[in-house]
Amino acid sequence: MIVTTAELFKVAYGEFAVGAYNINNMEQCIGLFEGNLQSNAPFILQISRGARDYARVKMLEGLIRAAEDIYPEAIFAVHLDHGNEEACFDVIESGFYSSVMIDASHYPLEENIAITRRVVERAHDKGMSVEAELGMLGGVEEDIRVDEKHAMLTDPDEAEEFVERSGCDSLAVAIGTSHGAYKFTGRQGLHLERLAEIQERLPGFPLVMHGSSSVPREEVERINAAGGAMDPSARGVDEDEFAKAVPLGVTKVNIDTDGRLVWTRVHREYFRDHPEKFDFRAPGKIFMAEYANFIAHKNQKLNSAGYLEKVRAALT
Ligand code: G3H
Ligand code: 13P
Ligand code: ZN
Repeated sequence: MIVTTAELFKVAYGEFAVGAYNINNMEQCIGLFEGNLQSNAPFILQISRGARDYARVKMLEGLIRAAEDIYPEAIFAVHLDHGNEEACFDVIESGFYSSVMIDASHYPLEENIAITRRVVERAHDKGMSVEAELGMLGGVEEDIRVDEKHAMLTDPDEAEEFVERSGCDSLAVAIGTSHGAYKFTGRQGLHLERLAEIQERLPGFPLVMHGSSSVPREEVERINAAGGAMDPSARGVDEDEFAKAVPLGVTKVNIDTDGRLVWTRVHREYFRDHPEKFDFRAPGKIFMAEYANFIAHKNQKLNSAGYLEKVRAALT
């Protein structure tokens, strides 16, 4: 059942973070639903502009509708990840998604507020909620690359002003994470002290953590042992830190890269071990099962596992 993102956040705040997982194809979609049901967790299925270009808007919508039918017990929201104004308006008009993210964080504050405000007005007219971003994460997102020295933590005073003036419903904050596989070079980690200051200014307001993949060392090593050439020092967010972020207001955690690593590892290993094979359905099956296990594991760490019935009860 597709629900609004706001309904999920209402139950989640302070108790768990909703896992927000990107999909681009059928295998990810099936693995995602099975992993969430395996762990009895509500979730957010999110679609980037890149995914809309890759798989086609209609194909993704068809996949999601089919999955809703195949897995009637699932409770999830459908969210546009890193939208620009044009993509947000397109999604709002389509009426299919639960919520949009307008990412105008690379503009100066006043422009970010003005753009977000315009999207909020259109979205709220249709009963949809809006996630905005303030501060600058490092890494690559859509077509924008931000290097570490230009990444900027979210300023708590600005966050309070931004939410009030833009009218957004949740806020993606920069607290040290970045997109992609290469997040931390030294001993950096989450800036939980900054998160606490933001929560103090915005009590009860849902905060979002992007760039939250863990980039497991073992996964990178297996990819490289099967012919990959990833930087072996790649490191992500310590998944045990999610439990510290939840009481500080984080209700949505975005994970994409880790799923890509599962895909890459499964396919590299399969074709290394079976060089004579060419039927992609064999590794596809392995991937779907492994991705489902991965999702179930992440939901344990986010503490969303086991909350499905509580969310269902809150909806009725
Ligand atoms: O933040 C970026 C997400 O991982 C989506 O990535 O734009 O390559 O689909 P993408
Ligand atoms: P990762 O690259 O850490 O998976 O982050 C994904 C993300 O933030 C999607 O919006
Ligand atoms: Zn992101």
